[in-house]
Amino acid sequence: FGRALHLLDVVPSTQDEVRRLADQGAAEGTLVIAEQQTKGRGRMGRSWASPKGKGIWMSLLLRPPVPLPLTPQLTLLAAVALSRGISRLVPITIGIKWPNDLLVNGKKISGILLESAAEDERLRYVIVGMGISVNLDPEDYPEELLEKAISLKMASGAVIDRSELIAVILEEFERLYALYLEQGFAPIRSLWEAHSVTLNNHTVLNTPQGQVQGIPRELDDMGGLRIELEDGSFKTIYSAVIDS
Ligand code: BTN
Repeated sequence: FGRALHLLDVVPSTQDEVRRLADQGAAEGTLVIAEQQTKGRGRMGRSWASPKGKGIWMSLLLRPPVPLPLTPQLTLLAAVALSRGISRLVPITIGIKWPNDLLVNGKKISGILLESAAEDERLRYVIVGMGISVNLDPEDYPEELLEKAISLKMASGAVIDRSELIAVILEEFERLYALYLEQGFAPIRSLWEAHSVTLNNHTVLNTPQGQVQGIPRELDDMGGLRIELEDGSFKTIYSAVIDS
């Protein structure tokens, strides 16, 4: 991955740059990295602050031969790749909050946004957007975010070389993606479960269908979260926001 690399200075969002390239037929593995985004976006229509030179703001193009409903598995794969890559360079413990937030001591250091393009239910491509707060300082965050967000620099006390970090993340990503294409979701699922901070802790999930509370126990084959409810029954959630 990243052999077709587009290093840009300022863009609205790297997601849109990759979408444009994908629509022109760009190959799997095409990567766009920007120094700064002026309209970075997160999940659920939220915005994503992407200050100049302080983070890794990048989007990767995949053309996986899987049906559209399985694409959430790739977000889980991305979360594992990021967490393994970061752990190779930075001595901190990273936990994955379902589906794909990376946390250090309960605070978010990275987020993943998966966008896909389909035609008649057939998947054409997937864009994996990855935002990593690498060298942000406290003053780069709005006051109210400091309770919830942290950078690798703030967490580890050291300035991190972004190019080195990108290289190890891509290496992990490529390895896990090859494993996924060869063996399916099962090995990714085990790795994700091993890194998770969501499993086995009481959780409140805000789903498009309303609030669900319970204890997440495992992932299902598609990447959904299986929640044990108070009455002992199980419910699987595919899309939700977990506030705490
Ligand atoms: C989230 O946690 O809500 C996901 C955040 C994803 C941010 C990245 S930064 C690179 C790519 N371009 C964007 O506009 N968003 C993603």
